[in-house]
Amino acid sequence: MGAPEGWVGVRSCGFFLNFKFQKSDYIAIGLALAVIIVLMLLPSPKDNNPPAPPDSKHRALKIEKDCVVCHAPQGERPLSAKHPKRQDCFRCHRMGGA
Ligand code: HEC
Ligand code: HEC
Repeated sequence: MGAPEGWVGVRSCGFFLNFKFQKSDYIAIGLALAVIIVLMLLPSPKDNNPPAPPDSKHRALKIEKDCVVCHAPQGERPLSAKHPKRQDCFRCHRMGGA
């Protein structure tokens, strides 16, 4: 009777069991974590732009397309000429004035 068929699989698992972290592995993991933390702390442009005021006109809005009903050149409150010509309002403006 030879070795059971699963034997080869067990042996290749041993590679992972015997794997030891080296100093360089810890440094790589530490650097990766540091990069992630720095990226999270960078100020988002949203923090500097005026938020949409938390009034009844704005609170109910969920779709950016609805914003231009009023914030269009012919709307109730047109955007200034230097305002970015972009439709993704929520990327730059927080809702609820928070
Ligand atoms: C019903 C019309 C209407 C709609 C729809 C509307 N707004 Fe407004 N918005 C106004 C008016 C009027 C003002 C200025 C008066 C005020 O502060 O309420 C204003 C002000 C703002 C301001 C603040 C400007 C400042 O000087 O601080 C932002 C930002 C803004 N709106 C973003 C949005 C976004 C984003 C949407 C879509 C989710 C949106 N608005 C939809 C009417 C509207
Ligand atoms: C690329 C980022 C960006 C996007 C996208 C954006 N805005 Fe703005 N918005 C700003 C900045 C920055 C200001 C302040 C500029 C200033 O002080 O003139 C501003 C100001 C405003 C104001 C008030 C002052 C003004 O210029 O009239 C309103 C209202 C406004 N945004 C609405 C909107 C709406 C509605 C949308 C989507 C159609 C939108 N924004 C998309 C960056 C953005």
